[in-house]
Amino acid sequence: MLNITLIGYGKMGRMIQNLAEAHGCRVQNMIDPTQPGCEPQITDSNLAEVCLEFSHPDAVMDNIRKVAAAGKHLVVGTTGWNKYLPEVEELAAKHNIGLIWGANFSIGMNIFDRVIRHATLLCAKFPFYDVGAWEIHHNQKADSPSGTAIQLANTILDASETKQTAVYDKLERRISRDELHFASVRVGSVPGTHNVLFDSETDSLEFTHRARSRACFAVGALQAAQWISLRKGVHSFNQMMEDLLC
Ligand SMILES: NC(=O)c1ccc[n+]([C@@H]2O[C@H](COP(=O)([O-])OP(=O)(O)OC[C@H]3O[C@@H](n4cnc5c(N)ncnc54)[C@H](OP(=O)(O)O)[C@@H]3O)[C@@H](O)[C@H]2O)c1
Repeated sequence: MLNITLIGYGKMGRMIQNLAEAHGCRVQNMIDPTQPGCEPQITDSNLAEVCLEFSHPDAVMDNIRKVAAAGKHLVVGTTGWNKYLPEVEELAAKHNIGLIWGANFSIGMNIFDRVIRHATLLCAKFPFYDVGAWEIHHNQKADSPSGTAIQLANTILDASETKQTAVYDKLERRISRDELHFASVRVGSVPGTHNVLFDSETDSLEFTHRARSRACFAVGALQAAQWISLRKGVHSFNQMMEDLLC
């Protein structure tokens, strides 16, 4: 069994705890300043071999710095910190740790991303197809657009011949042909839905990934914990998938 520490004991932390044993992990302890039964903060001695970080965009960088300084491996699920990636790479090298990160640890979403890349390449051969997308999440989500939306937008921009930039905000004007519109909706308790629409005057192709619960993210995070426990350096979840698929 791999010993793990959960940093952030909210909806994701609890789901990971429920599924840990079935995926070869033992939850040694939980760290969360607000939740009963958790240690309030990271110390020099309260981290297991691998830490799974699902807290808050405002807290994640501080937690990464502390875990790296303690020389422990990390699975980072919290989103909203990508601009700090160069600093995180330096920290991982300096402290000789492994860190895996991803906006969406669902194996199905990772397959979806590959399907969308292929669909974009196919539709790009026929200029009458336009493409747009939207995502729906529960009304407690702290950031918008979702990290997964940004990842999917980058996949589409990379494969498209016409789209150059993604527009996530409300438009007060007509969209230009080289812009990809990616809208966000926050409602109820939706765990995460992403849609991509290829549309022409005569037909449309619509692709949807719908997380049924947070379990799909938790399973991927536990798989990532096992994978990173044997590695050093910073890896994306996509790199783990490439490794598992070949
Ligand atoms: N990569 C993925 O596959 C994936 C999947 C789902 C969610 N996420 C992301 O993971 C993060 C957490 O999601 P969630 O649904 O579990 O959120 P959540 O239910 O709000 O849980 C987060 C928990 O972390 C706590 N926290 C805040 N600051 C902390 C700190 N410094 N140290 C430790 N814990 C701290 C929060 O306390 P307070 O409530 O008091 O702030 C809360 O209890 C979000 O960024 C979300 O977007 C990623």
